[in-house]
Amino acid sequence: MCGIVGYIGHREAYPIVLKGLQRLEYRGYDSAGIALYDGKELKMSKTKGKVADLKTRLESEISTDGTVGIGHTRWATHGEPNDVNSHPHYSNSGDLVIIHNGIIENYDALKKELKKRGYTFKSDTDTEVLVNLIEDVILKENVKLGKAVQIALNQTVGAYAITVFNKTKPDELVVARLGSPLAIGVGEDEFFVASDASPFIEFTNNAIYLEDGEMAVIRRHKDVKIRKIKDDSLVDPYIQELQLNLEQIEKGGYDHFMLKEIHEQPNAISDTYRGRMLVDKGIIRMAGVDDNMERIANAKRFIIVACGTSWHAGLVAEYIFEDIARIPVEVEYASEFRYRNPVISENDVVIAISQSGETADTMAAIKLAKEKGAFAFGVCNVVGSSISRETHAGAYTHAGPEIGVASTKAFTTQITVLTLMALKLGKFKGTISHSDFQFHLQELERIPEKVKIALKTDTLIQEIANKYKDATNCLYLGRGYNFPVALEGALKLKEISYIHAEGYPAAEMKHGPIALIDEQMPVVVIATKKGHYEKVVSNIQEIKSRKGKIIAVVTEGDEEVRDLADYVIEVPETMESLTPLLTTIPLQLLSYHIAVMLGKNVDQPRNLAKSVTVE
Ligand code: F6R
Repeated sequence: MCGIVGYIGHREAYPIVLKGLQRLEYRGYDSAGIALYDGKELKMSKTKGKVADLKTRLESEISTDGTVGIGHTRWATHGEPNDVNSHPHYSNSGDLVIIHNGIIENYDALKKELKKRGYTFKSDTDTEVLVNLIEDVILKENVKLGKAVQIALNQTVGAYAITVFNKTKPDELVVARLGSPLAIGVGEDEFFVASDASPFIEFTNNAIYLEDGEMAVIRRHKDVKIRKIKDDSLVDPYIQELQLNLEQIEKGGYDHFMLKEIHEQPNAISDTYRGRMLVDKGIIRMAGVDDNMERIANAKRFIIVACGTSWHAGLVAEYIFEDIARIPVEVEYASEFRYRNPVISENDVVIAISQSGETADTMAAIKLAKEKGAFAFGVCNVVGSSISRETHAGAYTHAGPEIGVASTKAFTTQITVLTLMALKLGKFKGTISHSDFQFHLQELERIPEKVKIALKTDTLIQEIANKYKDATNCLYLGRGYNFPVALEGALKLKEISYIHAEGYPAAEMKHGPIALIDEQMPVVVIATKKGHYEKVVSNIQEIKSRKGKIIAVVTEGDEEVRDLADYVIEVPETMESLTPLLTTIPLQLLSYHIAVMLGKNVDQPRNLAKSVTVE
């Protein structure tokens, strides 16, 4: 939640910070702001709304020169999203300025204390409390900015990624992180700060990812000094070479990132298995599994923790692991699991699934599981993310950056990686025959081509979207492997079009939701040939006899459902366990086109943010 950007070096900071904020806008877009220092004056402009609104306002409000700058795009936690609550925030003297991603939980107590000491506050934010606390430490203890930040942070409870600038010491930026990501780009005589590497990728491939509990003083023309916030010990900076390229984070001719990412799925899926799946040799190589094979394969139970779309991928994985590797699986909302005093033993393997690798609840669930002795395995997309580092081992999805707030390629690549893992474990345990194993590999290799065929349903889907875009409710039904796909289809529709939608196991319909069905109600039914087909067809009959409108996702060539449904969307045939990789495609397209037709902001739906780093 929230994106932060900073620059200190020899270039004009404004265009770098502005562009960086645009790239980070997926993290939150309630408000935005930038502060710049031009050698004499510290200037700031901020506004409710998007980075585009900020640009217009800023350029008419302040001069844009200066080689130091910090910027923020906000997902509101404390204080409504208005101009005053936007970041950056000044300290009372006006010397210090801060941007902050996270929550200071004890801000109220700190604020009361500071008020007694004469501090005043313009905003309702926890961040303005923090910057004044830092200022108070500087004045009381007569220390430099870095030390003051450290002392102040040791008085806080909460989560943060912050950047602080002091105009009386203009050649440094001080940054710190706990629970929210922060990367430092190391260029030629210049430094960048950002929530992820996308704001500085065209300037440098070298980045330092701060670990939780670390802070850094970044000195112009000099160096980066990293310390542990708690005990002040020095840390050697580890400079990592980034794999990201600029093309990956731009729209590449598509109208929206979401559409680009939907269309990237054939490649994303093959990128996920490339190098891991050696079909000819009948081998799957996954270092995170190989290195811990006994521990993982002998687990008494897998507990999958995740949120949102990643949780849906976890539900698909439950079927896959149980079917192929015969390991009992529980799938938990991370937010519930962490507060439930769950029964976890050393024989459990806890798998955290997270695109961003930063989701606060998933992170907390992993920490809890580790405390109780479980082995923690991460399935993340963002390389070097907090969850990938917190887990004992893991496997990246290699989907490339997902910028659209609605998750698409993350879902299919998570399923791909979890399928590989299940197959590998199944082979090791002998719960899958050699021929079945080979067949799975061959079929998985065909999936990218089949996804391309599924993407060709786009024109038909636009017609369906046009027909049902004004519906106020929608039901999604599926069974077995496609029950989670129904949940995911409903989530996609509600989050970007704001149409109420529910996903159900098809057979559950008659235990309640059937009461909702009338001639106004579109019902999307996944009715592919493999797995419970006849039973789903019976459910379709039940909907039809109550005059519901049926949009069916079927296997190519299906005639039976065609006779019953209002619309039929065909996807290629595949083995049952892999159908989610195909059936989910038309559902993503359907929600995309409905949202576009309704004029909604597809990439940045209201109230949402890409990575939820607050609980
Ligand atoms: C929905 C969506 C969210 C995320 C959820 C978990 O389209 O994007 O539901 O799936 O916030 O995020 P990660 O996977 O980053 O942990």
